[in-house]
Amino acid sequence: MYNTHLARLPDYPFQRLRDLLDPLTPAPGLSEIWMSLGEPQHPYPPLVAETMAANAHLYGKYPPNRGSEALRAAIVDWLGRRYRLPDGMVNAAEHVVSVSGTREGLFMCALIFTPDEKAGEAPLVLMPNPFYQCYAGGALAARAEPVYLPTPRDANFLPDLDAISAETWARTTLFYLCSPANPQGTMADADYLQRIIGLARTHDFVLIMDECYAEIYTEEPPLGALEVARDMGEGLDNLLCFHSLSKRSSVPGLRAGFVVGDPALISRFAKMRDYGGSPAPLPIDATATALWREERHVVDSRHLYQQKFDLAEQVLGNRFGFYKPKGGFFLWLDVGDGVGAAKRLWCDAAVRVLPGEYLTADVAGEANSGIPYIRLAMVHDLETTGEALRRIAEVL
Ligand SMILES: Cc1ncc(COP(=O)(O)O)c(C=O)c1O
Repeated sequence: MYNTHLARLPDYPFQRLRDLLDPLTPAPGLSEIWMSLGEPQHPYPPLVAETMAANAHLYGKYPPNRGSEALRAAIVDWLGRRYRLPDGMVNAAEHVVSVSGTREGLFMCALIFTPDEKAGEAPLVLMPNPFYQCYAGGALAARAEPVYLPTPRDANFLPDLDAISAETWARTTLFYLCSPANPQGTMADADYLQRIIGLARTHDFVLIMDECYAEIYTEEPPLGALEVARDMGEGLDNLLCFHSLSKRSSVPGLRAGFVVGDPALISRFAKMRDYGGSPAPLPIDATATALWREERHVVDSRHLYQQKFDLAEQVLGNRFGFYKPKGGFFLWLDVGDGVGAAKRLWCDAAVRVLPGEYLTADVAGEANSGIPYIRLAMVHDLETTGEALRRIAEVL
């Protein structure tokens, strides 16, 4: 009655956090500040409400499974602008499918692209450790073996591709890579991306690039895998990239994103969605179309994140291994004991943060590498963020 692989999944990090903190009393007399969840609280543009209202009559129609043509055209235009892609490198008909938030698409990829066996053995799904939890959920739901790759700080928090054995590559069916990375905010450079795309082709696995933080950065825009594929000049074989409006446009509740990439993979993905997908309702599809065509709010939002990271630098200085992340909106702070710090911050500062070990899988024979860390989602306004950071500096 149950896929026994799923028994290996721990409770979801936010459930574990509730179990840890709910029995405790947050510091009395202080407003609660939740920095545990990566849920952007920046204002989103009025066009969201306007477009939803103008299209409300379309709730009476089933939406198309790949997303409307207008949405996919807006996405292709955005990709072309953002990544300077030559005309025709991606087109709406063959390369793009809309998803109702990228989580479901990332998860579904594991179900679609996991064969019964690879190289005569159970297929492997590779991912960095720590990682976005959906990757492991997908791998285990697909009855594959997740492989959690270390991401040491002195290796720019990226998995060491040279440390992966030939036997592992031969059995690999999927590799999830997040750039900019949640939680460390690191970005893969052109050499790294070129290597991993090459490895996907040599060993015939699907490289899933989770680029949902692509529009939030402190200095240089993160490189996209599509740009690297463009420069390699060998098409999009073995590559899928995910993008989301949740972080870019601060609309996590809209549930709107897309996947772009290898037409052969996209057509399998779209076929599976015909059976089991839940396409975005047309008013949401129309709103997503308008958002991908609008940049002002993205620039403003990015600026607000940059101000908050500057503030964090002022308040935290060089404590807790602070560094300004290159991308994304998290602080990944080395506080020695993440669980202990999360409890103290809740009890003494009413600030809710996520212990790093809840995002990090246990690997046999090794200490959980997330234990020293806490993750802070810098998603609030400047004032609230400043207040939280000052409390954190004081309590820790
Ligand atoms: C790394 C990463 N990927 C994907 C997602 C999913 O985002 P959504 O389903 O809102 O598009 C998140 C959300 O927190 C994330 O942090």
